[in-house]
Amino acid sequence: MKATFKQLLNLQVGAAISECSGIENCNGNVITASKPEFGDYQANGIMSVAKQLDRNPRELAQQVVEHLNALENNIVESYAIAGPGFINIRISNVALLSLANVALLKPEALVTRVASPATIVVDYSSPNLAKEMHVGHLRGTIIGDSLVRVMEKVGHKIVRQNHVGDWGTQFGMLIAFMQELQKQKTGELPQQLSDLEQFYRAAKNKFDADPEFADEARKSVVKLQSGDPSYKQVWNQFIEESLTHCEEIYDKLNITLSRDDLDAESRYNDDLEGVTELLNSKGLLSESDGAKVVFLSEFVGKDGNPLPVIIQKSDGGYLYSTTDLAAIKFRSEELDADRSLYVVDARQSLHFQQVFAVSKSAQLTSDKISLEHIAYGTMMGSDGTPFKTRSGDTVKLIDLLDESVRRAYDLVTEKNPELDKELCLSIAKKVGIASVKYADLSKNRTSDYIFDWSMMLSFEGNTAPYLMYAYARIKSILRKGEAEDFEEEIISIDENEERLLILKILQISDIIHSVSEDCFPNQLCNYLYELAGLFMRFYEACPILKSDPLKRNSRLSLAKLTASALQQGLDLLGIETLERM
Ligand code: ARG
Repeated sequence: MKATFKQLLNLQVGAAISECSGIENCNGNVITASKPEFGDYQANGIMSVAKQLDRNPRELAQQVVEHLNALENNIVESYAIAGPGFINIRISNVALLSLANVALLKPEALVTRVASPATIVVDYSSPNLAKEMHVGHLRGTIIGDSLVRVMEKVGHKIVRQNHVGDWGTQFGMLIAFMQELQKQKTGELPQQLSDLEQFYRAAKNKFDADPEFADEARKSVVKLQSGDPSYKQVWNQFIEESLTHCEEIYDKLNITLSRDDLDAESRYNDDLEGVTELLNSKGLLSESDGAKVVFLSEFVGKDGNPLPVIIQKSDGGYLYSTTDLAAIKFRSEELDADRSLYVVDARQSLHFQQVFAVSKSAQLTSDKISLEHIAYGTMMGSDGTPFKTRSGDTVKLIDLLDESVRRAYDLVTEKNPELDKELCLSIAKKVGIASVKYADLSKNRTSDYIFDWSMMLSFEGNTAPYLMYAYARIKSILRKGEAEDFEEEIISIDENEERLLILKILQISDIIHSVSEDCFPNQLCNYLYELAGLFMRFYEACPILKSDPLKRNSRLSLAKLTASALQQGLDLLGIETLERM
């Protein structure tokens, strides 16, 4: 496929409106029709042009349709004017079949590639390494990973950046604590570090209770940041351990981040002074209580006073924002990014608005770069407050994932009591992880959402088990068909259910491109859910295996194409399909 129906129609209708109105470069504004009664696509571009010219929109629509009808066109069967001046468009069966049959031979071609690939930097997951990953890191990790998969699929060059926090004051405390333990009983350290959460808490308790230790901890940060080799060595040991914890999670969650994608805060340590000087040379720095800050007129606090962005504290220490400014510069200059995305909690919105604004004022980047905060809401418990354990602690991500697999195991054994235990377990691993991921991805990312086990692990509704089961079911039909020598032939259309299913399959490309641009993976989830629903309707209305050989082959082929679209879509969400369930 070179272009989708929507893209072609947009061009054709846009050109026709220009022709009939005398206005150059009109936009056809073609969208997928919301109901089959409205045809397959709907062009909305007439109204604004008519308004501009003070003309009757239906009259202009009439003229545009006449113009379109006079053109040679093998993709459209009919145009119909509706409402105040929309054009409803029905695609010809010949065009549907020709694309479907090409896709049958080459299913990857279902998704078109962008004409001009961009370099897109995606900052995601990015946990703080002082503690173990907890549920707060789940959304950013999952959403970010789906976005990079989607953008790569359409042909962009993606640079993943896992901007882990490895450089703050907390590390001084942890290093000091490690040194103490090493002094006492050397052998036990690795074991102590196996539960980072506990280790952090023990260090923090000591920090709060023991002023001498707290002092030691503060000195340790300074030593570390000034590059003392012995401190650096202990720090390395800690970071290594913490990264191993993250990797275990990435592995379980089927996340594509690797060590090569690390973009730790410490990487920018040597650039911070330079960034500060640069801000100073542009006249942006002011002093406030001994700290170096930037005031920008667009940021005012509740009290009406300007809000500062702190660049350097009075003790010389740099901040989270300073590191992000250095990172922005790097991503623009060195990585040559066209877009730089930050898949980060919505609660950091002000931070990103500020660093983006400072970077703009200081001209830290090229003009072409688009800096975008891809914000997401908070994961809530059933009581509507941020998700916690019963005792009110943050939930470790690893525990949550293990629990999901356990629950999926119960679900799978309930559905197939006779299934072998090993097999159940391997199915449960995929279903459990997929359920957590899908529940998250299927929500509009900007809102908070309620984490609900029974909903995400249901075989009904817009869930991972439903889609994975739909896929496995199609695969089982195909296996039966193959046993009765199904030779892949050619798809044809006899029933409307077949037509609607084909049209839907061919729309996958538009959806994926829109996710790549707007970064809302829930659009892809909705699409896959509708696709599976249309398959079920087709399956009920059109007998497959019991039909005459021609129809049977066509329907098996259509089932095969559906399976491929489902599989490709789920893969872009980072969800693995199962051949049997
Ligand atoms: N480490 C930060 C946190 O856990 C997130 C970093 C996001 N990326 C960035 N470039 N600021 O809150």
